[in-house]
Amino acid sequence: MNRLLAGSADVVRTFPSLYAPVARELEEVERILAEAIRSANPAVAELVEHVAHFRGKRLRPALLLLTGRACGRLVPAHAVLAAVLELVHTATLVHDDVLDGAAVRRHVPTINAGWGNHNSILFGDYLFTHAFHLATTLGDIRACRIIGETTNRVCEGELRQGLESGNLALSEAEYLDIIDAKTAELIACCCHLGALFSGAEPEVVARLTRYGRWLGIAFQIADDLLDLVGDEEATGKSLGTDVEQQKMTLPLIHLMATAPAPVAARVRQILSGPGCPKREALRPYLTEHGSIDYAYRRAEDLAARARAELTCLPPSPCRTVLELAADGVVHRQN
Ligand code: IPE
Ligand code: IPE
Ligand code: MG
Ligand code: MG
Repeated sequence: MNRLLAGSADVVRTFPSLYAPVARELEEVERILAEAIRSANPAVAELVEHVAHFRGKRLRPALLLLTGRACGRLVPAHAVLAAVLELVHTATLVHDDVLDGAAVRRHVPTINAGWGNHNSILFGDYLFTHAFHLATTLGDIRACRIIGETTNRVCEGELRQGLESGNLALSEAEYLDIIDAKTAELIACCCHLGALFSGAEPEVVARLTRYGRWLGIAFQIADDLLDLVGDEEATGKSLGTDVEQQKMTLPLIHLMATAPAPVAARVRQILSGPGCPKREALRPYLTEHGSIDYAYRRAEDLAARARAELTCLPPSPCRTVLELAADGVVHRQN
């Protein structure tokens, strides 16, 4: 059986069903988010509606609320912060789809497919600026500083990834550092703010921030696996874009480091040649040399590390969901 489908498949298939303990607060997040990006201009409102209507998994707001409740009491600021971080995430996706030349996101055409690259860049900026403005409405300098530091690092991670594209000798350590910055940083920020705004002790805030970081790295490894072996219908997004752009991800890094020289040469040829689609051409090599399994094992190890950070919390339904989420981000199909 494909390892993608292994594990707690029921939990994974319906990711949002995990969010039951914070379902009411997530509705409040949706309300705040829609209100924050509303535009009186009908043309802009069309774009706003597109992102407000076609939602993703809402993993980041859910984690912020779940960590908050697992540490203590949720306060109104939690829902605002959750909306801010989902907006930042959405902005990065709108820009990322331009960079990847992606056609489909969240089961519908991307903003760039519908409105062109030019408008996508500006609309991504619109989402970023509205996220920062929304954050300031809390009047809490700590939140603005933490979110500012996080977005600095996310942007640097995306930039580094772009600059490394075509570097087929990228090391595993460099790859992990890049995904830590571009993806795990934002997820860690959600858990940090969730715990902080519940008044958790500094040691607990630090442990939950680390939980978010391990979970975030595992999440991106799983995403990179989906890009190679996932199903476009299940993920609802264009796949194979990493290899089309010669972006080295963990399975390929493993393959290049472990395969015999003639195989490595053939892989290099596929990656840098004109042939399309590259992911289908690469898949037999990745499977045969254990590179898919290797990346799953690395993601599972990181998920276990994430779970271990939760032992500082008293047992609760939210802690249980956070434990399940660590497994869920690895063994997911979307
Ligand atoms: C996609 O994130 C971008 C990555 C960091 C891999 P998600 O998979 O959380 O996207 P949505 O929000 O569910 O669409
Ligand atoms: C997204 O990484 C990283 C961001 C922080 C935006 P990917 O490029 O792998 O995300 P998907 O696969 O397009 O969702
Ligand atoms: Mg992408
Ligand atoms: Mg991806």
